[in-house]
Amino acid sequence: MELPDDFYERIKERLYRRICRELQLAKRLLDIGCGSCKLDQLLADRNGTHVIGVDISNAKFPENKTRSGGIQCRKRNADNLTFLKDGSIDAVVSVYAFHEMNNALKVLKEAHRVLQRGGRLLIVDFPKASLAQRLWNENYYTRSQVASMLRQAGFIDVESRAIFQGQLIWALAWKAHIEQEARHQTIPHQVRRSCYKQRVRAAAWKGSLFARQAPTIST
Ligand SMILES: C[S@@+](CC[C@H](N)C(=O)[O-])C[C@H]1O[C@@H](n2cnc3c(N)ncnc32)[C@H](O)[C@@H]1O
Repeated sequence: MELPDDFYERIKERLYRRICRELQLAKRLLDIGCGSCKLDQLLADRNGTHVIGVDISNAKFPENKTRSGGIQCRKRNADNLTFLKDGSIDAVVSVYAFHEMNNALKVLKEAHRVLQRGGRLLIVDFPKASLAQRLWNENYYTRSQVASMLRQAGFIDVESRAIFQGQLIWALAWKAHIEQEARHQTIPHQVRRSCYKQRVRAAAWKGSLFARQAPTIST
């Protein structure tokens, strides 16, 4: 069935709600390639998240540019985030921007560095050969290319799925809690096979991760 040209506009609200649900426990969040920060405003309003949006261009930043109701925008290349300390962020998100990053692997390594242990990263992007390809014809990745880059950058438990009739990639990955996880790129097999894993993750998110304080930023 032919999809309408405004397909992505039509799914935008549902997509944003889904992202808000996925990241609801994060208190300190980094948005890579934030653009106009619309999603960030929603995350701040709905979830009470402190959001740092970085974008290589400040052309679309909200009016007051640097700070607007729980969000801070920084004009930066996402492959060099030295203003953020190691482990200072609970979750990283990037929507419709990953395919534009010139040095994608370096961006992922930076995201991994700034994430605290047990933190998660979510990439939402257009896949190769999607409607986006017909509309804008940019260089998109496949789901497996994104997954493989995430693993290369050191993430574990990588899941890269197709959502919204295959028109989007939804890639989730974690920074390991402990060295053993990082070495094996996952938690042990017998643990993975039960729901225990989910509970461990959820408990970690609830318990240890999220102090209600703003991220540490050096200027
Ligand atoms: C298609 S826009 C998406 C904006 C926003 N995330 C959204 O969903 O509306 C992609 C954004 O990625 C930004 N971008 C591209 N390369 C970047 C880089 N290396 N570092 C930071 N931002 C980058 C662009 O400036 C642009 O604002």
